[in-house]
Amino acid sequence: MSGREPLLLAIESSCDETGVALVAGGRRILAQAVASQIALHAPAGGIVPELAARAHLRWIVPALRDVLESAGVTIPEVDGIAVTAGPGLAGSLLVGIAFAKTLAWAHQLPLVGVNHLEGHLYAAWLLDRDEPERPAPPFPLVALVASGGHTFLVEMRDHLAYRLLGETVDDAAGEAFDKAGRLLGLGYPGGPAIAVAATGARRRDAVLPRAWLGSSYDFSFSGLKTALRRQVEAELAAGARAGTEAGGRLDPLRVAELAWGFEEAVVDVLATKTLRAADETAARALVLGGGVASNVALRERIAAGAAERGLPVFIPPPDLCTDNGAMIGAAGWQRFVAGERAGSDLGARPAWPLVRPFGTPDTRRPPRRGPAARAYEAALAAERDAAGDVPVSVPGEDAR
Ligand code: KG4
Ligand code: ZN
Repeated sequence: MSGREPLLLAIESSCDETGVALVAGGRRILAQAVASQIALHAPAGGIVPELAARAHLRWIVPALRDVLESAGVTIPEVDGIAVTAGPGLAGSLLVGIAFAKTLAWAHQLPLVGVNHLEGHLYAAWLLDRDEPERPAPPFPLVALVASGGHTFLVEMRDHLAYRLLGETVDDAAGEAFDKAGRLLGLGYPGGPAIAVAATGARRRDAVLPRAWLGSSYDFSFSGLKTALRRQVEAELAAGARAGTEAGGRLDPLRVAELAWGFEEAVVDVLATKTLRAADETAARALVLGGGVASNVALRERIAAGAAERGLPVFIPPPDLCTDNGAMIGAAGWQRFVAGERAGSDLGARPAWPLVRPFGTPDTRRPPRRGPAARAYEAALAAERDAAGDVPVSVPGEDAR
């Protein structure tokens, strides 16, 4: 092991990409492979869990071979294995976990279970194989993770220590993009399809609502999706009356304008809240992660706001924003050096939150609406006041 950085073999299979990577010292990607299932799920317009699990099974060995070959590394040269343990689809997670456990057992290697969301966060620490060294994000920082299943803002004052600032109360940003993509008759996944369609908008004046939720850092995207649906329905009905509607579809130019308006609304809320969080917590850097962070409009908006403030921004390249194995190697490394190890009883945790508010069992989702949600919020606030501290996830706390 001397003379080189410890090497983690990282495995990700929580959703619809089979990712395998070799990451040295938690930052340097030696090799990675991502087997995407986009084409497999496109006909259904969304992920079919059973198909996803089978595809992981089909591609995980070829992905591992590919990575080992291109890095010129054999498994005995690896120092440990990191695998996504949750959140995600149970069947898909189990494929990666069983594979990682078997490799760890067969080669007597230490194993660590990684939270997928922590992976999205730590993707910002990664360096490509030939990329020159650059400093890691400095603390304290504010991080926005926006993916297909999650959207939240955290403050990090150190590695693995998170204070939840806000999260979505309904749809995740990526989920909203995907639903809007379907509404507009664009392909799956909706995020990239909307981003592409939006570039074709001639008029850039479609205004869709933003849910600011007062001064909170929480997000809500379901109202925006409903507003878009109503707009599409109204325009189709008007088209039908005027006899200009073509087969129940909007004109592609109009689709482009609405796609632009939708993207603009999501980006506006995400960027505004992230930048305000940076101001209010006196952050020294901004970090973005998750599939939606590959959105060019969002990246530009955050970069411009950060430049005004003189803040460095760390946004992974687009292929490291969406699901991949390398990010699990980066996060797994932090858990590894903190001394975490998973046993042969490591299981899938489909609803594993990255930051668990005080008092919430992590197997149950907190109530989101109505009296139950208000009671829950009040209990949470009381608990926070009583503790006089911030909810922090410490290394080891979530080892199993
Ligand atoms: O992080 P990710 O690959 O998987 C999850 O963990 O969910 O995120 C996938 C999500 C999808 O909802 C997809 O529509 C969205 O990220 N996405 C985008 C873009 N690329 C992917 N959303 C907006 N703009 C993009 N360019
Ligand atoms: Zn993801």
